[in-house]
Amino acid sequence: MSQKMFTVKGLVESGSLTSIPSNYHYSPSTPIDNGDFILSESETVPIIDFSMLTSGNPDQRSETVQDIAHACSEWGFFTVINHGVPENLWDEMLRLSRGFFDLTEEEKQEYAGKKFWDPIRSGTSFNLTVDDTLFWRDYLKVHVHPQFNAPDKPAGLWDVTQEYCKYSREIANELLKAISESLGLEENYIHEKMDLEMGSQLLVINCYPPCPQPESAMGMPPHSDHGLLTLLIQNELGGLQIQHKGKWVPINPLPNSFMVNTGDHMEILSNGKYKSVVHKAVLNNKGTRISVGTGHGPTLDTVVIPAPELVDGANNPPAYQGLKYKDYLDLQQSKQLDGKTCLDSVRL
Ligand code: OGA
Ligand code: NI
Repeated sequence: MSQKMFTVKGLVESGSLTSIPSNYHYSPSTPIDNGDFILSESETVPIIDFSMLTSGNPDQRSETVQDIAHACSEWGFFTVINHGVPENLWDEMLRLSRGFFDLTEEEKQEYAGKKFWDPIRSGTSFNLTVDDTLFWRDYLKVHVHPQFNAPDKPAGLWDVTQEYCKYSREIANELLKAISESLGLEENYIHEKMDLEMGSQLLVINCYPPCPQPESAMGMPPHSDHGLLTLLIQNELGGLQIQHKGKWVPINPLPNSFMVNTGDHMEILSNGKYKSVVHKAVLNNKGTRISVGTGHGPTLDTVVIPAPELVDGANNPPAYQGLKYKDYLDLQQSKQLDGKTCLDSVRL
């Protein structure tokens, strides 16, 4: 058989599917608690008002830094509001993301990418060479920093992606300053150690077409992200769930807010103080869900180790071994996406 790309979108549009093909039947590899999780009042998903970090008012800033410390240590997840991204840029990013998947299969094929490290790579599931079960998800992955790349179709995607990614990088960098402070480190600590000026930024656009059996398939299985911080936006359809205290919490973001989560390299750098959060994307049968994530990490050749300032001899020895960021990404891509198994392989 030729290596022609296939997509979930193509599958859905090929006929009136009433059930999913058997290779999409998903069963969790580890028992997970799917019980209802009612958040008590003291347990709402943290909301961070970004403008408080940049207002120039030191009291507002230090209060927000404390809120971020709490969000990172208790949740690994928070919602960011008042971030200053123009609403029309936001809408355009989502509209053109959708537009990419609406290209013909032949047009998308141009961006299929052959190797993991190709700067632009469109595909389906997670990694077809290792996935036993296929995921109900098409994707476009683009390396957008330090070298900017983007597909030139559909018209406008290139420019809008460039502008959107610049904003999301600025916001991530500002959040990482606040996170440095929240760890008791100097504001520019993460910037300098992770060489963020030249840091890696990876754009992942996910397309989850409507699924005839949304409970039986999976959009994206439970996993943690590899970088320091991920910023995610979505269209009007929800689907992100995060793990919190052993339960799945569905995220219903406020309009025009970023969903932000800590990644494995934040866990390594903070020596486990800020753990990466496990999350997944579930499906619906109503419409196509689009999400746009940017993963922010160090330069690809940075070897990330627990910050020596956060390590303390016998009481708090380093809990992770150093690995070059690029090697970590290769490692994650070589395995099935499954919870925190990648991070487990560098745990000491
Ligand atoms: C991801 C991811 C979740 C979503 O792309 O890593 O977790 O809601 N996406 O699409
Ligand atoms: Ni993720």
